[in-house]
Amino acid sequence: MAAAPVGDDVYGEDPTVARLQEKAARMMGKEAGLFVSSGTMGNLLAVLAVCGRGDEAIMGTQGHTFLHEAGGVSALGGVVINTIPNQEDGSLAPDDIRNAMRNPLDIHEPISKMVIIENTQNACGGKTLPVSYMDEIGLLAGELGLHFHVDGARIFNAAIELDVEPARLVKASQSVTFCLSKGLCAPVGSVLCGPKDFIEKCRRLRKMLGGGMRQAGVIAAAGIVALESMVERLADDHRRARQLAEGLVEIPGLELTKGSPNTNMVFFRLTSQASLGVNELIAGMKERGFLLMAPGKDEIRLVTHRDIDDYDVEAFLRAMREILA
Ligand SMILES: Cc1ncc(COP(=O)(O)O)c(C=O)c1O
Repeated sequence: MAAAPVGDDVYGEDPTVARLQEKAARMMGKEAGLFVSSGTMGNLLAVLAVCGRGDEAIMGTQGHTFLHEAGGVSALGGVVINTIPNQEDGSLAPDDIRNAMRNPLDIHEPISKMVIIENTQNACGGKTLPVSYMDEIGLLAGELGLHFHVDGARIFNAAIELDVEPARLVKASQSVTFCLSKGLCAPVGSVLCGPKDFIEKCRRLRKMLGGGMRQAGVIAAAGIVALESMVERLADDHRRARQLAEGLVEIPGLELTKGSPNTNMVFFRLTSQASLGVNELIAGMKERGFLLMAPGKDEIRLVTHRDIDDYDVEAFLRAMREILA
């Protein structure tokens, strides 16, 4: 990062940002890429580029853009969100997408412009959606005249788990956002990839949102390291998530949920047999040096990453056995 050549990226003059964007676009099989501050900004730009005020974006009830992006697409773009239920495997049923379409000739209705598919699907447990499904949605979106955007915050986790190139996985989509942070370990940043004209539009929108950064090569350099050296090792995170899950099922008083483990995530909840509640468990584990996250009221999510090794997995399971004994 310290040695990265930099320039003013608002003028497109930062060679490190340019290198990151080209590399990201190539890995996603798209024409161009745009370095953005976060996954949230990448998804927001994609929606703003496609939908005008009063237009509609179809997504899952468990979709990150619906649940956890502060309603930005509606607040900033006047975009209507039309949610349909995520299936247990994280997918959106093609028939539900078809049925969610508005009638473009009826002046009472918003106009359906895009569909967003999340892969891996975070709130459904970190599940992967296979190439066949992604292709099916691509065909359907084409038929319905919808832009197909992939929220691929963890698309590399999906690609590693499915043993497929990420470009193949998102081939049927027009655009994809992925995070350099999360499992790829960069401190900051995501990349939005898509056709050249779409990315040019997003560059203007990024500037409008205050996301045009000057000598951003300093942080883009970490993104290049992420793409060059952090992808293959995601398999280790997935293996450790499986080890966590195998250890957890042996502990009385808890049960795995959401089909865990999936990719780098394990979800579980306490049963009526447990000797303590969720908040006590979180507090007790924090005292022992482990941070647990409870995205729902009674469900806990564990995520493995580069800084959690085999020793940490063992130590975690030991602490859990102790506290639930
Ligand atoms: C599926 C998904 N999409 C988008 C995001 C947003 O990423 P960021 O936190 O970089 O805004 C997240 C973050 O957890 C996510 O899980």
